[in-house]
Amino acid sequence: MPFAIRELQSAYKAYQQFLARGPPAQHARYIFPFFAGSYFAYRRIDVGRVTEIARSISNNPSYVDIGCGYGDFLVKVRQLLPDATGIERDGGIFYAFQVQKPDYISLMPIEGFSLSVDAAFVGWMEPGQDFRRFVAKCAKCVITTFDAGGQCGINGGCEYEEFGYQRVAWWRTPSWIDVNAELMNRYYTPSLDAEKKEDLARLRTAHNFWYVYVRPNVADRVRSGLKAQLEKEEPVDRFNFESVLDECGFHYGEKLPALASNQKLWEVMFD
Ligand SMILES: C[S@@+](CC[C@H](N)C(=O)[O-])C[C@H]1O[C@@H](n2cnc3c(N)ncnc32)[C@H](O)[C@@H]1O
Repeated sequence: MPFAIRELQSAYKAYQQFLARGPPAQHARYIFPFFAGSYFAYRRIDVGRVTEIARSISNNPSYVDIGCGYGDFLVKVRQLLPDATGIERDGGIFYAFQVQKPDYISLMPIEGFSLSVDAAFVGWMEPGQDFRRFVAKCAKCVITTFDAGGQCGINGGCEYEEFGYQRVAWWRTPSWIDVNAELMNRYYTPSLDAEKKEDLARLRTAHNFWYVYVRPNVADRVRSGLKAQLEKEEPVDRFNFESVLDECGFHYGEKLPALASNQKLWEVMFD
């Protein structure tokens, strides 16, 4: 990020004031993602996909979440891959929370990371930041999420082809900003009448992409591992916070009228 401590403290104060108003459960994670969620919206099936991709490379895969923040997604991954770790450059989040940093998160920049891992996860690099070449030095497979339009890379995404990887699969989900916009329209803008809310809801879209990049020698394994996982996938097995995604019109398999493509949310496309 990095946030100055004073900025973090005032953001944390706003977060506490919001909670004190007793908002509906789980809204905070899409309004204060740095404190209570993640910068990409996800479901339990995303955790299943990511962990099975890692497992397709090795029975006991090494996995690192790079720029993991306080570890919201990593904690879920560790339920399936207990040795998964994270690295985070900015320890301010732990200071703001006054909580102990878990041992499985190392406070260090990726630039100083010297291990080789089976799978690296990069959940949403801040626009203007680009540490892909350091990620590319350390992983056989990179699973990355980013917002359409304007992060890094040739096409404004966070591609890894230029580092010798090939993309094998991708899917689309909402970013926290997409969910946030829906929440604001529905619950936090009293001046909007029901008709206007409906109109705005029709315009909703989903800007977050998940790309799976691999070194060519593991491409077939990863492709078949992900295909096998999709056959087993049970969208009914969910985290509590997924109800907010449904309520805001971002269902699993939803087709958004405002999207030019026919692709459904969470539908995996293979390259
Ligand atoms: C937009 S936040 C996303 C955090 C988390 N992945 C999530 O989705 O909630 C980007 C994170 O990457 C971290 N970061 C930025 N540059 C980094 C680097 N060179 N090495 C490690 N972490 C970095 C930032 O401190 C920040 O926590």
